[in-house]
Amino acid sequence: MAKKYSSLLLFFLLLNSLPNSDASPEYSRPPPRPAIFIGPTRSESDPEQVHISLVGKDHMRVTWITSHKHEKSIVEYGTSPGNYDKSSMTGERMSYRYFFYNSGEIHHITIGPLGPNTTYYYRCGGNGPEFSFKTPPSTFPIEFAIVGDLGQTEWTASTLKHIGAKDYDVLLLPGDLSYADTQQPLWDSFGRLVEPYASKRPWMVTHGNHEIETFPIIYRHGFKAYNSRWLMPYQESGSTSNLYYSFDVAGCHVIMLGSYVDFDAQSDQYMWLQADLAKVDRVVTPWIFVLVHVPWYNSNLAHKGEGESMRKSMEELLYNARVDVVFAGHVHAYERFTRVYDNKADPCGPIYLTIGDGGNREGLAMIFENPSPSISMFREASFGHGRLKVHNETHAHWSWHRNNESNNTFMADELWLKSFASSKSCLPHEKFQEMKTHIKDEL
Ligand SMILES: *[C@@H]1O[C@H](CO)[C@@H](O)[C@H](O)[C@H]1NC(C)=O
Ligand SMILES: *[C@@H]1O[C@H](CO)[C@@H](O)[C@H](O)[C@H]1NC(C)=O
Ligand SMILES: *[C@@H]1O[C@H](CO)[C@@H](O)[C@H](O)[C@H]1NC(C)=O
Ligand SMILES: *[C@@H]1O[C@H](CO)[C@@H](O)[C@H](O)[C@H]1NC(C)=O
Ligand SMILES: [Fe+2]
Repeated sequence: MAKKYSSLLLFFLLLNSLPNSDASPEYSRPPPRPAIFIGPTRSESDPEQVHISLVGKDHMRVTWITSHKHEKSIVEYGTSPGNYDKSSMTGERMSYRYFFYNSGEIHHITIGPLGPNTTYYYRCGGNGPEFSFKTPPSTFPIEFAIVGDLGQTEWTASTLKHIGAKDYDVLLLPGDLSYADTQQPLWDSFGRLVEPYASKRPWMVTHGNHEIETFPIIYRHGFKAYNSRWLMPYQESGSTSNLYYSFDVAGCHVIMLGSYVDFDAQSDQYMWLQADLAKVDRVVTPWIFVLVHVPWYNSNLAHKGEGESMRKSMEELLYNARVDVVFAGHVHAYERFTRVYDNKADPCGPIYLTIGDGGNREGLAMIFENPSPSISMFREASFGHGRLKVHNETHAHWSWHRNNESNNTFMADELWLKSFASSKSCLPHEKFQEMKTHIKDEL
């Protein structure tokens, strides 16, 4: 049931006529592709739009939608197909209204405790198809697939195919999921598009501007669809908002920040971030990764300077704590910076990566600032996804895979990373130690 939008196609064609300033010279970029809309494919009583997300150290949240209100909120599961020796009804269900749109019943059920690195077979609501997922390992190595600004075009489908073609443990998404932009049926279409991937591996997401969906007076706070459909384990990390949270997986502490929630020094998000960083035990989780939608470093002309106020507010916290990498989306291109602090190369600062090139309908952000700033190491406007394989407590490998039908293993950019936890020259800043002591005293 794929409808094609000719106006969008025209839009892409126009975009494609812009100059391609920074692609590697040997790469000829394939032509743009149209939007996809996927309507319901199952019977009305069957669960659809199934996706999973991590909760705590050994639980998984299973989320699905039914069109009927009275369907049961139960997940049956086990380690062999068709043999469900366990079940859970722990969780919540919700639905929401947006103008004339009424969502289906959204079920969020948490299952576990689950074994690490184990395949489970499961069924939602007592009927419908069987799904399966693999839990992440509890120790290194672990591999993340990372992609932002996904949308739902044929480029999105291509990106997802590339992601699915090689195994990984957890998908991280730094904002801008469906590009529904208030057209609620597009949230359902997105749920169906990603289900084959998001039902198999946990998808951990944070929000971008396309999730906001505010409307004066009626929907002042926004994020109605996002918060209902993409519930993340915020309470488990002491956050009071689904719009920022953190979690641990196999020796990595992952922090999801919110670009569109208050971030000044008096804000809840800032206080939470401070406390969250203070709690990290670098022996248990030697690596710290941060995801945020709007990049703090960006040499593309698109969205230039938009992350500046958040950077000014929070960069020092991340720097002092020795965060290893900061991933962002928003800009529809790939860019890798060197280790940076306060706009200068700094061996104790995080690596900054922009990976907002998942395949959305707005097309690529083609034009970069010229000449390239010295802290920008690689930049290219092509669709693709990233992979972060954390080999052990000291070494991780980053690679960027631009969409390329003929070769799934091709890496357009790559880099070996050494953790700060194993570094003798970049111990956490003394201001961080003081902050940590101060926060512990308050507890
Ligand atoms: C996870 O399981 C696979 C095969 O089942 C194995 O090759 C891999 O080493 C395991 N990973 C960890 C971290 O235990
Ligand atoms: C960590 O992994 C890297 C890359 O595979 C390897 O060279 C290094 O020896 C490993 N270190 C330890 C302590 O296992
Ligand atoms: C894939 O990438 C390789 C390396 O850049 C290139 O030689 C090949 O032509 C590309 N294939 C397609 C279909 O773009
Ligand atoms: C894919 O790319 C990798 C790395 O560039 C190369 O080693 C391999 O031969 C390529 N495979 C195909 C089928 O082109
Ligand atoms: Fe965005």
